[in-house]
Amino acid sequence: MKTIIIHAKNGRLSDEELEMAAKIIKSGGLVAFPTETVYGLGADALNPEASRKIYEAKGRPSDNPLIVHIADPNHIEYISKDITDKAYKLAEVFWPGPLTMILAKKDIVPLSTTGGLDTVAIRLPADRTARDIIRCSGGFIAAPSANISGKPSPTRAEHVIDDLDGKVDMIIDGGKTTLGLESTIIDLTPDKPVILRPGCITKTMLENVIGKVEYDEAVLGKHPDDSIRPKAPGMKYRHYAPEGNLTLYEGDMRRVVEEINKKAEEFIRAGKRVGVIATEETKDLYKYGEVKSVGKREDEDSIAAGLYAVLRDFDEMHAEYIFSESFFGGNLGQAIMNRLLKAAGYRVVRVD
Ligand code: TXA
Ligand code: MG
Repeated sequence: MKTIIIHAKNGRLSDEELEMAAKIIKSGGLVAFPTETVYGLGADALNPEASRKIYEAKGRPSDNPLIVHIADPNHIEYISKDITDKAYKLAEVFWPGPLTMILAKKDIVPLSTTGGLDTVAIRLPADRTARDIIRCSGGFIAAPSANISGKPSPTRAEHVIDDLDGKVDMIIDGGKTTLGLESTIIDLTPDKPVILRPGCITKTMLENVIGKVEYDEAVLGKHPDDSIRPKAPGMKYRHYAPEGNLTLYEGDMRRVVEEINKKAEEFIRAGKRVGVIATEETKDLYKYGEVKSVGKREDEDSIAAGLYAVLRDFDEMHAEYIFSESFFGGNLGQAIMNRLLKAAGYRVVRVD
């Protein structure tokens, strides 16, 4: 398949380009587009054949449900039922934005979109181009992250092209995504809402609006434990793991730098290709291996935005050992560490 690649000028599409994207989706095709979190791979959410194509292009297990993206908050009533006051409140405060809500689904949503579940995940993205595409394509777009299953979510069009060129009808290049981590997912079907995936909308932000919420046990898990079954099916699959062996270092920053330098030197001497995940504040302190800064520690938004690109870079250079600083604390610490811990297979060295 020849993939059409469109470069959005200043992040926006012309009317003709928008028309072209909408036509593809309405006729059951696949269009990758940017959102404020990561790039999504979109198809008509109400067309079972179209959502099946998403699974095929990504190599995604068919029981891993897709998020349905809408452009008008009132449209939740078209695809979901038993919508609680809490859901309406969250929609009012956090939409458009990086929050996905799980609600009971209506029959109109095909089981091939929800991975066989009787619930549906719904999100109204903040990105204007994303919303334009959704609106012009019929209003309901199923869109997982636009990566091959098992790779980090794409935060730049080049990542999408690397993974999906030739497998989808169109890729829209809207530059770097602003947030860089996937949306927060909250399940509103139980009495006490549960966070299934941490993201830029934090537990505290949610609790300020609807009162007590909990984390799914699998989110907090410091260690993968087969007895804990994550409620978001996607969280159970072998998560992204870099080609190289990734280890996180945690503790006093000076000691972390010292330890990573020591390890990096040791592995370089043994002839290995070594990568170091640093920050703007520390990058000049590392003496060995390929050192990449994810962002400014002082500005945790920049760390979230830079993380996936750095992980992809190290794969591209076939780093055999990767040493990384940790990012506990702050508002985004939970979301950032959730992704990093999985990528590291929960290998953490504490230095004191
Ligand atoms: O920021 C995002 O959410 C991005 C952009 C493109 O919107 N999308 C995204 O989709 O990250 P995806 O498919 O990569 O992740 C969706 C996660 C999966 O872990 C899936 O299992 C979970 O949401 N999920 C979807 N529907 C669900 C449902 N009905 N119940 C529980 N978990 C669900
Ligand atoms: Mg994904």
